[in-house]
Parts: sequence; structure tokens; C-alpha cells
Amino acid sequence: MSAADSQRMEKIVSLCKRRGFIFQSSEIYGGLNGLWDYGPLGVELKRNLKNYWWRVMVHERDDVIGMDGSILTHLAVLKASGHIEGFADLMVDCRLTNQRFKADQIPLQNGTVFTYESARDALPSEDGLLALAQLAETDQEPRIDKAVSLSDSVSLGERIVQRRNLSIASPTRDPESTEKFFLELVTELIRNPQSEWEERFRLGYSVPARHVCGDSFRVLVPAGESESKAKKTAQLFYQRRGLKLPVLSLLSKEKVEDTREFNPENGAEFTSPRPFNLMFQTQLGASSDPSSIAYLRPETAQAIFVQFKNILEVSRKKLPFGIAQIGKAFRNEINPRNFTFRSREFEQMELEYFCRADEGMKLLEYWKEERLKFYENIGIPREKLHVLTVPDQDRAFYSKGTYDIEYEFPFGRQELEGVAYRTDYDLAQHQRASGKSLEYFDEETKQKFIPHVVEPSAGVDRTVLALICEAFAEDQAPDEKGKMETRNVLRFHPRMAPIKCAVFPLLKNKEPLVAKAKEIVDLLRPHMFVFYDESGAIGRRYRRQDEVGTPFGVTVDFETLGEKDAALRDTVTLRERDSMKQERIAIKDLPQILLSRIS
Ligand code: GAP
Repeated sequence: MSAADSQRMEKIVSLCKRRGFIFQSSEIYGGLNGLWDYGPLGVELKRNLKNYWWRVMVHERDDVIGMDGSILTHLAVLKASGHIEGFADLMVDCRLTNQRFKADQIPLQNGTVFTYESARDALPSEDGLLALAQLAETDQEPRIDKAVSLSDSVSLGERIVQRRNLSIASPTRDPESTEKFFLELVTELIRNPQSEWEERFRLGYSVPARHVCGDSFRVLVPAGESESKAKKTAQLFYQRRGLKLPVLSLLSKEKVEDTREFNPENGAEFTSPRPFNLMFQTQLGASSDPSSIAYLRPETAQAIFVQFKNILEVSRKKLPFGIAQIGKAFRNEINPRNFTFRSREFEQMELEYFCRADEGMKLLEYWKEERLKFYENIGIPREKLHVLTVPDQDRAFYSKGTYDIEYEFPFGRQELEGVAYRTDYDLAQHQRASGKSLEYFDEETKQKFIPHVVEPSAGVDRTVLALICEAFAEDQAPDEKGKMETRNVLRFHPRMAPIKCAVFPLLKNKEPLVAKAKEIVDLLRPHMFVFYDESGAIGRRYRRQDEVGTPFGVTVDFETLGEKDAALRDTVTLRERDSMKQERIAIKDLPQILLSRIS
């Protein structure tokens, strides 16, 4: 992410908190990672999005009906769907920091790999140190009751060198020169022993009496950087395994290309990839036997498949037809990130559109186009949307085609929605596992078969985030005195804007203005979410509404009261957020004019 984009993202996150769109969950207790709460304006935005999705996907169509399934899900459902076995991310851990990463998100890297087979401590073992302390202190009458810290060992050695007048140079405190210093000291002391402590020191400084770590460790150093970088990283690795001053044992170095085996942040090697199931498990009732295990659903789709037969019977729909659902889903994401983009609790808007096998590919194209239109209709321009054809190797094995609809977030191009042709996999799996028929009977051909399905699956939270990112702007607008100043504005499509219209009396201490403004609020309230504000200068009030994306502002002034011109009685100014243009409108026409612009 460029510096400008990351600054933009910071401004967006801060505005979301300041103006009540999105807060961190459990914030006063330090927050819960990957979980978010929507404030008064966030909840309106989210609701507008979900309502519009429901309107175009369900209410405006003859071929789609809705449902609302339970969040807690039977183990058998998720076994049949493949989630118990396969709903896992391959994860790797950095062997230095223990940080966990998704294996498929590691970038390819080149450089030289240094392999260390082990390391030993350059400082003496505790026995060796004890002997050193005795030798340093008295030379003759050893006392072994003195506690000595390991960091003192070099100065103890230097003291012995001085007392015995040995010609050994002091070490530079790096591991190799420290080891060399002690080895020379051992040689000198053994040559002329004066007590039992010389031999005890020799033994205490032998390998493996010293601390030794036999774990091998690899470090990648990018081309152009020196070996000392690998050494520093490896030393940290062995220090974290208890060595105070590790002397490294280098086994090999070799050039590598396109590897994902190393942490790009520090070069340390990763563990081998391991699957990590992303589902949250819970227990139903007081019993702890395995039959009471349930899961928080990882997608809303499975409830639709499991209720397919019931809904088919009650709705008597003919193929092709769809079942839609909006609801919460839960995934124990390892790296929740980019604000709400990857959360552990989120909402999905999913449609399972059932069809005959020969219609699948055509309907996949149809739904991709419909979904692109949807995003354009909520204010996300087509040029910011991208369609990724998911390559064969990345697609679920049962899918015959999948598109990802991506949006250009400030943190990069990322998935908003997946549109997948899932064949008859889900219904076939549930039929097999439950032993209940999930077949469709075709009245015309008198054939029974398991329908295929095309699934557009969108994330509510990701779309809300895309709406906010797209709407956020800073432009120039005149202040009270006509001087230009920077204005924060959310240019939401009126359809999505949390507040549709703000109503302002020009002055709050003029009773007729206030009364008229409140009448207007009552007139508009049955049709839309309206906000009344009488405090502060009118320009300030406009700014506050611009910042939360309110598309229209109605001001009641003296003309409204007919004081200057009787012809203007019961008219108001209607201000549009983006152009800041004002027009004079009759109060009685307001509901209809506003409704035509926001619906
Ligand atoms: N039923 C198919 C399915 O769940 P998915 O691609 O895993 O497919 C669909 O999820 C959509 O749900 C994604 O495109 C995204 O918008 C949203 N989504 C998935 N994981 C999410 C997460 N951790 N946080 C926020 N939204 C998520």
C-alpha cells in the first residue's frame, strides 16, 4: 500500500469511529481482534445495503424467494458439505517469532539460504562458571557459595588473565572471539593447575557441557545483502532457545529462486504448512458428549441446501429458481486485517440459484453481469470493479466456473463477492449423507434429478467498507465568510446514505422557523431517515452532514414564512451535498422529490 493510500485508509478508519459508523468490538476492554461493532450511522448504511440487495434479488424477481436459517449448525451438515474435513487454511509459523501466516499469501522470494545445523554457547556452562568464579576470586582456597551471573563470565576470565599474567587478548564480545578467549584460557590454566578448579573449568567449558542447541535453522538473505544479516537472525533464533551468546555452526549456503519458505519480514524459515480449521465449535446444552457439538456456520449457504426440499414444496417454484439469505457467518481467521475486510464475524448475502445442468454455465455469466450492475447501482463505478476468472487449480474441485468480483480498495484490489457454478455437488452430498431425497421432479419430462446451482455470494461488511472507501473525499468548499476550506465528505449514493435528509431551521431561537422545520421532519419521517439539527451556524451544520454523507439538506428560512415575498411562503431551500447547489422547493413537493432521488 502506498503512503498516500495508507494515509487515506487511516483517515477512513478515524472518520468511521468519530462519526459513529464502526467501532472496535469490546473497545473499553482493549478490543477483540477481527470483531467490529456498527454504530448509529454504520447500522443504517448496512441496513440500506441489505435492504437494497433483498429488494433487487428477491422482491423485484418472480424466481427468487428468501429464508433465514439458524446460525448454529449440525455437525452432520458440515460433514456432508466438506467443511469439517476441508474448511481449513494452510498455515505456516515463523520459526523465529512464531507469527502465523497463510501459506498462500507468502510472496515469492529469491536470495541465498544459510543453513545452520546447530549452535553452542560461547559462555561457560554453570559448572564452568562456578569454577571460573573460584579461580578468579582466590586462586587458592575456592569458595563455591558465590552466585555469579553469566554476564560476568568474561570479566571473571579477564581477572584471571590479569592475576596470572597470561598473554591472552580480551574478546570483542562477539561469540567467536569470546569462545576463542575461553579456549585459550582453558589451555593456559590446564598447563599450570594450582587447584582442582582448573580441571573443573576445563570440563565446564567442554562441548556439550556448555549449552548446545541441536535444532537446525535456515535463513534467507535477499540478493545484495550480506551474510551478517543471516547470522544476526540465526543468533536471535538460538538465543530464544536458551543460548546466551550463540556460536553458529554453518552447514551450507545455496542460492534459491521463487521460494515461499521464508518469512519476508525477517528471512527466518517457516514451519511446513499445516491445515488450520476455521470453524468455531460450540456445545449445545449441558451435556459434553460428542453428539452435542455444533458449529457457528462458516457460510449461510448450507442452510439453503438443507432446506431445499421444504422450500421447494411450500413455494412450488419451477426451475430455474433461487433461494436467498442474508445472515451472519463466522470464521476463525488467522490474520484478520484491513479494518473490517477480513473479520471473524461477518454477514453474507447469498443466493443459491437452482437450475438444470445445461443452464449452469449460461447462468454463471448472467449472475456475474447482474451482480456487477448491482454494485454500479449502489455507487461503485464499473472501472473500480474487476472480474477475476478463478483459475482451475484454485477453484473448488466441484465448481465448473468461478468469478471473483474485486474492488480497488486503498489496500489493493480485493474480493467483494464470489460467483460460482457449484454443479449439483452440495445437494448431492446432503442427499447422500441424510438419506433424504433432494431431487426435483420435472412435470414436463417426468424426470427426477438433483438440480445444479449457481451461487452469487457477497459480503455485507466488505461491501460497506467498499462503499465508505469509494465515498470518502476531501474537497474545497467555502466557509461562512466565503473563504475556501477543506471539506470532508462521504459521497454516498443517496440510496445507500445513512441519513437521507437533514432539516435545519435557519435560527434556533425563532419559534416559527423551528416549528416549520419540525413540521417538515414529521412530513418526511414516514418515508425516510431524517435528521433534525438546529445547533450552530448553518454552514457548520451542512459540513457535519457532508461528513456523514447526507445527500440532501432542507433549510427553513424567513422566505419559508412568507415574510419577504408571499409567493415564497411554504417553500424551502434544498441543498445537494456534492454540487452544494441550492434550489427553492415547495414543502408539499418535498417527499416526492426526495423519494425520486433516493430510491
Ligand atoms: N458460500 C460461498 C462462500 O462463502 P466465500 O468466498 O468464502 O464463499 C463469500 O465468501 C463472501 O463472503 C466473500 O466474497 C466476502 O465478501 C465474504 N467474506 C468471506 N470471508 C470473510 C471475512 N473473513 N470477513 C469478511 N467478509 C468475508
